[in-house]
Amino acid sequence: MATTHHHRSRVVRYRINKLHFGRFDITGEYSFNKLHTSGLAKLRRYGFLVKEEIVPGVPTIWVFRPEDIATIFQAEVGRYPERRSHLALYKYRKDRSDMYNTGGLLPTNGIDWWRLRKEFQKILSKPRSVTEYLEDTDVVIQEFVKFCQQHREDQTDDLLPFLSRLFLELTCLILFDVRMNSFSETERHLNSRSSRLIDAAFETNSVILRLDNGLRLWRFWETPLYKKLCKSQNYMEEVTLQILSQRSQNTSTHRKMSLLEEYLQNETLDLKDVVGMSCDLLLAGIDTTTYTTSFALYHLASNPHLQDKLRREATALLAAPDSPITPEILNNATYTKAVIKETFRLNPVAIGIGRILHVDVVLNGYHVPRGTVVVTQNQVTCRLPGYFSEPNSFVPERWLRSKDGTMKESVHPYLMLPFGHGTRSCIARRFAEQTVQVFLLRICRNLRFTWHGGTLDARTFLINKPDAPINVKFESVSA
Ligand code: HEM
Repeated sequence: MATTHHHRSRVVRYRINKLHFGRFDITGEYSFNKLHTSGLAKLRRYGFLVKEEIVPGVPTIWVFRPEDIATIFQAEVGRYPERRSHLALYKYRKDRSDMYNTGGLLPTNGIDWWRLRKEFQKILSKPRSVTEYLEDTDVVIQEFVKFCQQHREDQTDDLLPFLSRLFLELTCLILFDVRMNSFSETERHLNSRSSRLIDAAFETNSVILRLDNGLRLWRFWETPLYKKLCKSQNYMEEVTLQILSQRSQNTSTHRKMSLLEEYLQNETLDLKDVVGMSCDLLLAGIDTTTYTTSFALYHLASNPHLQDKLRREATALLAAPDSPITPEILNNATYTKAVIKETFRLNPVAIGIGRILHVDVVLNGYHVPRGTVVVTQNQVTCRLPGYFSEPNSFVPERWLRSKDGTMKESVHPYLMLPFGHGTRSCIARRFAEQTVQVFLLRICRNLRFTWHGGTLDARTFLINKPDAPINVKFESVSA
């Protein structure tokens, strides 16, 4: 079908929308607040391929069919995959050559991106080094479980800020080998280092989409949104430099080398590269895991029988509430992994993946030229009845293999891509998966929880954030 159209015409003939830009705070068809809702509306109205000129002169093509998503990723094999994102962050870093060598991993494209990526992924993506973080991860998560147990009487109506503290604590332990003690009384204060760091990462993430789109006046002068980005990035740099220098002055207390210190040992990287990477990892590490675990808790709390099923697995794998979690235990945590997959199907933190095409491709029968910005809408397609049975229900069982190794439902390989795809996919995927697995096993082994809020949906802040408080209440499970 595709080739027929292709031969018939090489003219770009996808659906044309009217110009819509600068309307980011309005709910409705073109809203940026809920990209998955507006995405579904566009799909229903225009079909499986939609062109929208959000930025004048820079059309975005929204791509819904998994076959077309496959075409995009197959076309980038052997190239340096490019994204059009974090443009203002790129400018900010390029303008500050005293602090940064490059625009950093998130915004940079081409060979410059690969130079960074190939060094930084050496430790962060390697299965063995990820396993080395398992024990630390488990210790911090066990502390969190105790915190939830101890504060049962005065439970808040929103667990999300505490989850942010947990994942800040974990990210900093890995980056710096430093405990932030973010659950202590002093650190829970609004002006503490951990509170300000969490706010700074969220603040930057929440302005990225609006700075990338619209008129981008920040190219000419410091707009209020751009100033917000500068302020929060300044703070993240300051803390990174402060911690690195404190540690270099006092090496006697070190348990081991932190991730950033290992990077500093790499001859091809210097302090400026490492500061940039630290900021990128804080930006990409805290909110993503916080929101993923929030959605998982929501689904498990609203489906008590599935929570019990996960608890049975956790109890079988962990004889005592504090039995250590080993790589082998994680290998056998089949149901836990199915729960995580199902959470990603319904509530991925990224609606899909953005790319700038390197070559001309044919999508859904239409010729789309190289250089075009495409964004895949995996989240919307994952909830369509043509692709999953009961698409809006939380059914982890759909991801379990039967005894003969077959899956209950056959799933297109390009449908579920919560961490992206190819060489540009999430650099910390294994690390993030391990963290969420440990989190769910520990929580369910030791606590039972119920949901006290309404239906939970997401709001797009670049990353999909729960649109209502995470109102779960915990009670202890007898050992
Ligand atoms: C549930 C957790 C997470 C999810 C679902 C997730 C998802 C993603 C996605 C979809 C991308 C874009 C991939 C692409 O364009 O193909 C990405 C990139 C990235 N992620 Fe994650 N992520 C998670 C956790 C983390 C964590 C914990 C860190 C760091 C500590 C991290 C660091 C990064 C970085 C640095 C990139 C940019 C990679 C590059 O451009 O080369 N992510 N992530």
